[in-house]
Amino acid sequence: MTAPTLPAIGTPLSTVATRVMLLGAGELGKEVLIALQRLGVETIAVDRYAHAPGQQVAHHARTIAMSDAHELKALIEAERPQIVVPEIEAIATQALEELEAAGVARVIPTARAARLTMDREGIRRLAAETLNLPTSAYKFCDSLAELQAAIDGGIGYPCIVKPVMSSSGKGQSTIKCADDAKKAWDYAMAGGRVSHGRVIVEGFIDFDYEITQLTVRARGAGGDIETHFCAPIGHLQERGDYIESWQPYPMHADALARSREIAKAVTDNLGGQGVFGVELFVKGNDVWFSEVSPRPHDTGMVTMITQWQSQFELHARAILGLPVNTALRSPGASAVIYGGVDGKPLVFDGVAEALRVANTDLRLFGKPESYARRRMGVALAFDADVETARRNAKLAASHVRPRLA
Ligand SMILES: Nc1ncnc2c1ncn2[C@@H]1O[C@H](COP(=O)(O)OP(=O)(O)OP(=O)(O)O)[C@@H](O)[C@H]1O
Ligand SMILES: [Mg+2]
Repeated sequence: MTAPTLPAIGTPLSTVATRVMLLGAGELGKEVLIALQRLGVETIAVDRYAHAPGQQVAHHARTIAMSDAHELKALIEAERPQIVVPEIEAIATQALEELEAAGVARVIPTARAARLTMDREGIRRLAAETLNLPTSAYKFCDSLAELQAAIDGGIGYPCIVKPVMSSSGKGQSTIKCADDAKKAWDYAMAGGRVSHGRVIVEGFIDFDYEITQLTVRARGAGGDIETHFCAPIGHLQERGDYIESWQPYPMHADALARSREIAKAVTDNLGGQGVFGVELFVKGNDVWFSEVSPRPHDTGMVTMITQWQSQFELHARAILGLPVNTALRSPGASAVIYGGVDGKPLVFDGVAEALRVANTDLRLFGKPESYARRRMGVALAFDADVETARRNAKLAASHVRPRLA
């Protein structure tokens, strides 16, 4: 048997460079860029504002409106990266599909996956209607009247309303009774990303806990795509945004097997190479699919301290066609550091105290501007048990005190 030829990696800033473009250069993109740099890749970091975290560590920084198909296409055609890696959802995915079809660049994991996951409708219909995976009951609505009809017609109370285009809990609220519906609708309209008067209303799942199942599609020695799973990540959400995560989550073997079955079904369908963050709700041995990111996941920042290869290193390796290792190194935890104030620039007091907490590490993302609920950093901790790690990650995070200069 002859082994398949694997792509060679070139020298950055030369005619033979392996060029990778990140569309989105926030804290997750920054870590992917660092992982790529370590493997000798030439990197281009794109964001909608200058000095985004990832732009500070890439060879090239470009600032454009990535939701504008014309601008996006022009940039990719000018820069000619071999690989384009979407790191956010709000991208003109139609342009990516065209460029991929024309063979201009490879899109990670695939342009279709980027399109299906850019709003809640594509991925929910795929999971529930095409793949028949268990999800919450749901309905898409274009007006307050439709929303009320969906609730009365079977979704019931309590239920959750989310703009179809939003992330990190923006515009999302729970409806407990008929009086809440108008407020939830108005809140969704104000919080959606594009003026897109459409929401999903979901039946509330009274889960015991929720996890992120990081799933990696990477090339094996024979050239075929293989699926690898990381240990499950537990997390806590507040107002739809992650505040704490830890790994491993101690799951019953049956619930874990079911979670991985669901993760495999979704990622097989989305295809391509790279890391996926599959979000699941668990009650006893029942598991519901919630959503999936076709890229590293915010709750997966914990892997920077718990795994031999973080989710960012796994992503970099998988997209380059290199082997991956998802083994856990130690139990650990992450705790988010919010800006706490609106304005710029920030100064962080207490960093030394934070790092004096046993077995901790810290990431300050370097975002040029803060607002109260903006994620500006994360504290990481490892320990023999998850509980100690969680306590220490939170303690370290609490020592970091952002203030305006
Ligand atoms: N149907 C549901 N039943 C119960 N809880 C839910 C439901 N949908 C969402 N939640 C809760 O709200 C959180 C955020 O929801 P979801 O992941 O859909 O939003 P998001 O804006 O995409 O968040 P992110 O971008 O941070 O993943 C979930 O992690 C879960 O804790
Ligand atoms: Mg989510």
